[in-house]
Amino acid sequence: MVQTHAEWEAALLACSQCALCREGNRGPTSYNGTPDSPLMLVGEGPGGVEDEYGVPLVGPSGQLLDRALASVGITRDRIYTTNVVKCRPRGNRTPTVEEGQVCAGRWLDAEVALVKPKVIVALGSVALKYLYQPNARITKDRGRWFTTKYGIPAIATYHPAYLLRLTGQDLVRAKWEVYYDLKAAVERLA
Ligand code: URA
Repeated sequence: MVQTHAEWEAALLACSQCALCREGNRGPTSYNGTPDSPLMLVGEGPGGVEDEYGVPLVGPSGQLLDRALASVGITRDRIYTTNVVKCRPRGNRTPTVEEGQVCAGRWLDAEVALVKPKVIVALGSVALKYLYQPNARITKDRGRWFTTKYGIPAIATYHPAYLLRLTGQDLVRAKWEVYYDLKAAVERLA
């Protein structure tokens, strides 16, 4: 049983306990930001760039996220960013609900217990399903507050990778929705 965030990270980085480790990735990715932040953002799982650097959300999705955070006056170094699954699924496929439960049950749950954020933002469907309910839908549930299994309030918003696929008015609308969701999360910290 790990006692500190540093012990948690060391144990995570040595993990090879589930099938995701055998999907040709470089091993588990850790967190990004500050472990004593009151705000935790939870993404889906590492992509190619994150797999290379070993930290979450530093590729194209992460760069878009940085701009969204800047629009609500916050920078990545002041928050804590992590993922539901810690190893990159082969070919960037979406991790299954079961893979999320196995990995997050082992690592994210302990991570939340150590970081003790005041507010959590679920980025996209995989995080929403793990933190709220397996049958939750991002299109229906984004922008709504819910209580996570940890008893910590959370709000879901679109994953930045989804925004990267949009154009025109759909993109404009989704960007505003992400802005309002992040703003609500920051205001809830006050
Ligand atoms: N998408 C995520 O959800 N997390 C990452 O770290 C990268 C892309």
